[in-house]
Amino acid sequence: MSKQEESIFTNPILKWVDDRFPLSSLIKDHATEYYASKNFNIWYIFGVLSMVVLIIMLMTGFFLTMNYKPSTEDAFNSVEYIMRSVEWGWLIRYMHSTGSSFFFIVVYLHMFRGMLYGSYKKPRELIWIVGMLLYFCLMAEAFFGYLLPWGNMSYWAGQVIVNLFSYIPVIGETLTEWIRGDYFMSDITLNRFFAFHVILLPLAILALVVAHILALHHVGSNNPDGIEIKDYKDESGKPIDGVAFHPFHTSKDLVAIIVFLILYFAAVFYAPEMGGLFLEVDNFEPADPLKTPEHIVPSWYFTPYYAILRAIPNAALGAVFLVAAVLLFVFLPWLDRCSVKSIRYRGWQYKVALFAFVVSFVVLGYLGMQPATGIYVLLARIFTIIYFAFFLLMPFYTKLEKTKPVPHRVVYKK
Ligand code: HEM
Repeated sequence: MSKQEESIFTNPILKWVDDRFPLSSLIKDHATEYYASKNFNIWYIFGVLSMVVLIIMLMTGFFLTMNYKPSTEDAFNSVEYIMRSVEWGWLIRYMHSTGSSFFFIVVYLHMFRGMLYGSYKKPRELIWIVGMLLYFCLMAEAFFGYLLPWGNMSYWAGQVIVNLFSYIPVIGETLTEWIRGDYFMSDITLNRFFAFHVILLPLAILALVVAHILALHHVGSNNPDGIEIKDYKDESGKPIDGVAFHPFHTSKDLVAIIVFLILYFAAVFYAPEMGGLFLEVDNFEPADPLKTPEHIVPSWYFTPYYAILRAIPNAALGAVFLVAAVLLFVFLPWLDRCSVKSIRYRGWQYKVALFAFVVSFVVLGYLGMQPATGIYVLLARIFTIIYFAFFLLMPFYTKLEKTKPVPHRVVYKK
């Protein structure tokens, strides 16, 4: 028996399973003999935290489904029933609604890490692309979920987003009707959105997470220095700068998970509405097709894109810009022409550009929550230009960068 095939178990039941299922080799390949760089910093915890939130969302979603009713007649009241009458229903519901915001917080930080350390660059382009597919699915999942309570903001935000499809030339109107399954947002629409939210998208997200991790473990993790640790191995073939994922990284991750859960439950217990950011005032009223909320605003994690949509004077063109703003991330591996991965060794051009991009994303997020009038529109236009310039000028400014020499071995930064 080769070392790889040796069972790691002494328990007879687990040994029995191991003889019939590759349990030992899975654990070795993905945990005890998966070597990841020893200099991971705090930016490296957000992938694991995304998984933690995913599990919380699947579990709480399962229990919510037991009492939620996907019909325009009952949906709003069934959520109220969960909040008031179902035992622990309020906790499960707040864990789920707060979880959606925390999901986007950790995923945005996770993506930003990729941009800091060039994790999307060769050979990790596919990890990035699968990550982007996950991001698209998460956006769809959050959108459908937001509609389910059938509050007034659910209804009107849904109306605005579904109507975006009508701007597609020729087929737009027909496509919008096809998506809704009706001429207006109706019971049929709510039912199918429920099916997407509880079956199709969760399955797609789970499958994509598996593909994401398999792709990652195939090429190996990047690190804050952007060095390929596989290039420097000891006599036994282990990367010199790598440590086994389990127990070394898992023990550090556990600390991060505990800190994260404290913050998350602080929000669940003390600020589940987060001043209208996590749960909006208008959504405490049932959907009313005759009563348009004063400002239709999507959830905070979509507001940067919403600000871009409204910054463009022509609605159809605005929809094109919105789609482009999301899609451009996919092309980062090819837009970035710099040979160095980590920001530690890159020139000032990328540092300035990344800073301007983050500022534009945050400011656009704020502007997306404000009325589309006067100074807000003007600012949204300026920051939309900065946002797009970050991506579209990238092939030029990253070519000009004067980089610092990259060390051969990982270094520790205090
Ligand atoms: C449900 C959502 C997601 C989950 C559960 C998830 C999970 C993970 C995990 C566990 C890792 C390894 C640990 C780490 O490096 O942090 C990872 C790495 C990575 N993820 Fe994600 N991810 C998600 C979404 C995304 C998105 C939206 C992107 C970007 C478009 C992305 C891009 C990456 C990249 C590039 C790496 C490799 C990073 C490196 O080695 O430096 N992921 N992901």
